[in-house]
Amino acid sequence: MSGVRWGIVGTANIARGQFLPGLRAAGGVAAAVAGRDPARTQQWAGDNGVERPVTGYQALIDDPGIDALYIPLPNSLHAEWTIRGLEAGKPVLCEKPLCGRLSDTQRVLAAARQTGTLLWESFVFPFQPQMAAVEKLVADGAIGELKEIKSNFHFMVRNPANIRLSRELEGGALLDVGCYPVRLAQLMFGPHHESAWARAVVGGDGVDVDTWGVLGYSSGRRLMLSAGMMRSYDTFTSLEGSNGQIRVTNPFHPGAGDSYQVATAGEEPRTLSAGADEPSFTAAIRHIDAVIRGEEEPRLLAVDTSLPMATALDDLAQSFSQA
Ligand SMILES: NC(=O)c1ccc[n+]([C@@H]2O[C@H](COP(=O)([O-])OP(=O)(O)OC[C@H]3O[C@@H](n4cnc5c(N)ncnc54)[C@H](OP(=O)(O)O)[C@@H]3O)[C@@H](O)[C@H]2O)c1
Repeated sequence: MSGVRWGIVGTANIARGQFLPGLRAAGGVAAAVAGRDPARTQQWAGDNGVERPVTGYQALIDDPGIDALYIPLPNSLHAEWTIRGLEAGKPVLCEKPLCGRLSDTQRVLAAARQTGTLLWESFVFPFQPQMAAVEKLVADGAIGELKEIKSNFHFMVRNPANIRLSRELEGGALLDVGCYPVRLAQLMFGPHHESAWARAVVGGDGVDVDTWGVLGYSSGRRLMLSAGMMRSYDTFTSLEGSNGQIRVTNPFHPGAGDSYQVATAGEEPRTLSAGADEPSFTAAIRHIDAVIRGEEEPRLLAVDTSLPMATALDDLAQSFSQA
């Protein structure tokens, strides 16, 4: 097989802005895009260099010319279309969070197990060189014992029609961006939290728009997260150890100007480049393509990572919805 032929389910902004640049850099083929409206889908395909527009998501899933599916639909539609893709035997990269509801996550993971079809939840940062370097520093004890992670993900949503402000589409800051600090904490502390506490400001169509909370792990280790859609872009994160800190300007989607700094007791802080010289999605798509071609064993599959993730998000959401 030469380039893996990807089909995109929905003419989403993230597909245009992040997935397609990553796909091209990884050597994959943008074979088709499906949308609900034929004229808009045709326009989108032409504007974004996708080979074929297809009307209707199911037609794309059933298309024999497609090897893998990317699903960047609103969160409330992830379960239905991911399950349909898995049942058709097509590997799926579904946008994060895998689902907005824990019960839907469980259904999707059951379908992945039952069909044996490959499924990834689109957290791309664990595949990137910066995160590999930070994980190695922590594992090697560069900052002693990791005790606490403080992690932000904020940005500004101005358009009231944005899917993130819709309750029906399962928007909200925790699901949209709060999931990133949670995923980071799971990489660093392990998958299972012991406690969850969160509070939120409600806005839009009844969703959390500015959210803060704590996930507790064993031995008092903790994630302090802050996530929202009401202030300027900020992804600053620090990993606090018994012997120092790692401060990361953008752990999640590092760009050319991003860096991380290692500061340990009694030494000059060292600032290292994030090394983000390719689009953010590239490393993840390169891996998935290699798995589909039979050249690599799959890593970070949803069946291995997404249930603890969804459980943590659900526990945090339960905490603020009951406040
Ligand atoms: N991994 C990341 O870095 C990252 C970044 C941003 C967003 N995301 C995730 O990607 C997903 C999409 O986000 P986005 O900002 O790209 O969304 P978006 O631009 O609003 O696109 C969503 C697409 O879903 C389709 N759709 C189907 N039913 C819809 C409905 N009822 N309302 C609105 N759209 C509907 C539309 O395509 P058609 O009209 O063509 O059918 C639309 O273009 C979300 O799950 C989000 O969390 C991930």
